[in-house]
Amino acid sequence: MRKTLVVGNWKMHGGKAFVESLLSDLKSLGPWSSDVVVCPPLPYLAQCERLLSGSPIAWGSQDVSAHNGQGAYTGEVSATLLKEFGARYAIVGHSERRTYHAENDQLVAAKAKAALAQDLIPIVCVGETRAEREAGHTEAVVQRQLGTLIRNLGARIGEVVVAYEPVWAIGTGLTATPEQAQEVHARLRQQLLAATPAAAQVRILYGGSVKPENAAQLFSQPDIDGGLIGGAALKAADFDAICRAG
Ligand code: G3P
Repeated sequence: MRKTLVVGNWKMHGGKAFVESLLSDLKSLGPWSSDVVVCPPLPYLAQCERLLSGSPIAWGSQDVSAHNGQGAYTGEVSATLLKEFGARYAIVGHSERRTYHAENDQLVAAKAKAALAQDLIPIVCVGETRAEREAGHTEAVVQRQLGTLIRNLGARIGEVVVAYEPVWAIGTGLTATPEQAQEVHARLRQQLLAATPAAAQVRILYGGSVKPENAAQLFSQPDIDGGLIGGAALKAADFDAICRAG
């Protein structure tokens, strides 16, 4: 039995007062039967640690360096550093990183490996563009993305979280139907299971315009174990409703 996981990806949104108010609202709305995580922009990680310690809400980063420890990597933040602020998760391979920062499957796998080396749980994003879906390439694309991860992580693949985020559904208001999403999640599960039986426990999240109105239907699918939430994670009432949908 996999416990539902709901992760808020705040992307590049914040402000000290905004974070203070959103987190205090969320703390008053919880706890939930789902595991709940927020991933703020990095400058707010210390604020999350201060405000969320002892609460049922965990926190993580939106990216992580492929290099661990400390070193001459300008602009990078390692899992080692994130751990010092109590982070437990790191999103890697989000389509916005793949698109705007040219991150490829190999780099995404290296980042996931670096996270695991510090016992940070990587939330690894996969997903096809609209053109790829229309050309009938959805399965090939996500299997290639997940395949590189599996080859690089070996047995530790059982310790990751996977997020299926169809690029065409991100921030567009277009959501994959529960059936469309389930079909991809089931394929991803098969691919994971072929690598290790431990994959039965891997949580596969859906992301892409999840809202209070569609969350319950999505999360009720057999292979959808929760969500990676963008816009709706910035509103306490909406995020709370999604956390309750699990
Ligand atoms: O990582 C979450 C994401 O990309 C989905 O964003 O705004 O469509 O929920 P949104």
